[in-house]
Amino acid sequence: MKIVLAYSGGLDTTVAIRWLKETYNAEVVSVSVDVGQLEDFKKIEERAYLAGSVKHYLIDAKNEFAERFAITDVIMNGLYEEVYPLATALARPLIAEKVVEVARKEGTEYVAHGSTSKGNDQVRFDLALKTNLENVKIIAPARIWKMTREDEILFARERGIPIKTESSKYSIDENLWGRSIEGDSIADPSVEVPEDAFEWTKVRSNDKLRLSVEFDRGLPTKLDGEKLSPVDLIRRLNQIVGSRGYGRIEHLENRVVGFKSREVYEAPAALSLISTHKDLEKTVLTPHELRFKRYIDSLWSDLVYQGLWYEPLRETIENAGKELNKWITGEVKVEVENKSLRIVGRRSPYSPYSEKISSYNKGWYPSDEEARGFIEIWGMHSILSKKARYG
Ligand code: ARG
Ligand code: SIN
Repeated sequence: MKIVLAYSGGLDTTVAIRWLKETYNAEVVSVSVDVGQLEDFKKIEERAYLAGSVKHYLIDAKNEFAERFAITDVIMNGLYEEVYPLATALARPLIAEKVVEVARKEGTEYVAHGSTSKGNDQVRFDLALKTNLENVKIIAPARIWKMTREDEILFARERGIPIKTESSKYSIDENLWGRSIEGDSIADPSVEVPEDAFEWTKVRSNDKLRLSVEFDRGLPTKLDGEKLSPVDLIRRLNQIVGSRGYGRIEHLENRVVGFKSREVYEAPAALSLISTHKDLEKTVLTPHELRFKRYIDSLWSDLVYQGLWYEPLRETIENAGKELNKWITGEVKVEVENKSLRIVGRRSPYSPYSEKISSYNKGWYPSDEEARGFIEIWGMHSILSKKARYG
């Protein structure tokens, strides 16, 4: 029996390699997918072999993750419960797709992942695997074994398996789009998140950052006039905006699996791009379009969070979002300092805004008669209803 395992290089999946081998007398093929996490992939490969992997694959999916997932998150202003830019949720389907490619190549239906039975990630992995590989047999070791973190460390020690020495006390998931932090003292939502939970948003610079972000049909393309690929643009923003301490999120999140959980994230690029993109949509779209877009944005975010990436409606509403974004071209200027970002200006060739129309000092003015007539007819529903109800 051959099992293909989605391998992050962390404690759970390292222990899983040996556990799968011992429990099923199986050959374990490990797959690490590069979705922009800042890891030493050479070390991860070494660790996989030392734990007992018979073959290791490293798949570079950074560009695909940026273009197909992160940038779509900008177009759809994807924020679960209005705050979380979905970094972990977006990477799961792509990782599953890559693992399926390897399973086909290796000629097996057995696929494993490291998620627990308490999380959202198992839902995303299982559904993505089932959608992409008919007859897939999924094994989630952490849902089967009854090991605590201490048990896992002991299991590895007893077998001489090296584990990540710098292992944090938190449970971390990282990719290009964000860093998710859970566990330890964070689990108490009444207590402030300790500073040592943060890495990307440690304040490293106190001077005010002035930045221009340009969009072309909804896609972020330039920073301060410089054209950058999606991966480079996101990396650059994480770096410079994160250095001013902007990009932290903490909230009590409603998980798919029926309970609330304290969640902490760092996502400087995601938050900067979504807030500037939203501003530009407001600059261009009609109020009717804008209300519709905000509604489908939140619907899209829920589907992605809930592991329903392959639900047909996700693509349908995404197409509507992309259609509206044909007009989202222009520039937004921001200032970032002291853990906050402020939008200070915007322009778009497709904005219907007209200073001549809105200014009190010049241009168009409705006559007194026009204004009275408009207000009379505009308010008639309310006035007549009030009279009908209360006399
Ligand atoms: N709650 C978040 C989500 O569902 C983050 C999950 C992070 N995973 C982790 N292993 N720390 O997307
Ligand atoms: C896990 O339990 O595997 C991580 C947390 C989550 O998926 O929400």
